[in-house]
Amino acid sequence: MIEKILNIFKRKTEQEENPEIKITPRTLVVLCGVAGSGKSTFAKKFFKRTQIVSSDNCRAVISDNPANQAVSKHAFDLFYFIIEKRLLVGRLTVADATSLSKETRRQLIEIARKYGFKVVIIIFDIPLEICIERDQKRPRKVGEQVIRNQYINFLEAKKSIPTEGFDEIFILNEKTLDTATVRIIPPYTTSNNSASL
Ligand code: UTP
Ligand code: MG
Repeated sequence: MIEKILNIFKRKTEQEENPEIKITPRTLVVLCGVAGSGKSTFAKKFFKRTQIVSSDNCRAVISDNPANQAVSKHAFDLFYFIIEKRLLVGRLTVADATSLSKETRRQLIEIARKYGFKVVIIIFDIPLEICIERDQKRPRKVGEQVIRNQYINFLEAKKSIPTEGFDEIFILNEKTLDTATVRIIPPYTTSNNSASL
């Protein structure tokens, strides 16, 4: 009996330490976190390049510069446009942007609903100092002050997200960012039937 309880406890701990994010193919996966929290790194680890629609790539497509804030409006028009077209043709899609504003999240939820997609959000809850440090080490730097400002919005977002209508919310912290896995599960299967990404 004690062994049984210990096993249940062990399994629960393992699941918490190695979370598995299960996603069905007709899903829009929204990433949310400040610059340097690891969104793009995580997306590239688990999804095909073509499944990832990145706001920074949209800035680059328009202006040759992924950090060009001056073209934000046009970059986001393109961002939503590509996502909408992908959902129209039924493709699993990852929205790689900070998603710190409620308006961005609302628009993504709206597009998903329009095409009968599920919409889930992965929150990158990484300590501010780690994000600043990682940003300083990479070639494309956003800068400490920008990240500090984003973090204030992130704390607001974390409070608001549970009331916004996402089908599922996954939260990754500094430990689980490394250990979490993503599995695409065809909706018609019951268990242990992973599809290739
Ligand atoms: P990302 O470039 O993935 O962050 O990682 P991000 O959230 O997408 O940032 P923005 O919003 O586009 O600006 C930032 C840096 O942190 C490193 C990456 O290699 C990259 O240089 N990193 C990321 C780690 O060192 N460990 C991780 O687990 C994740
Ligand atoms: Mg990124």
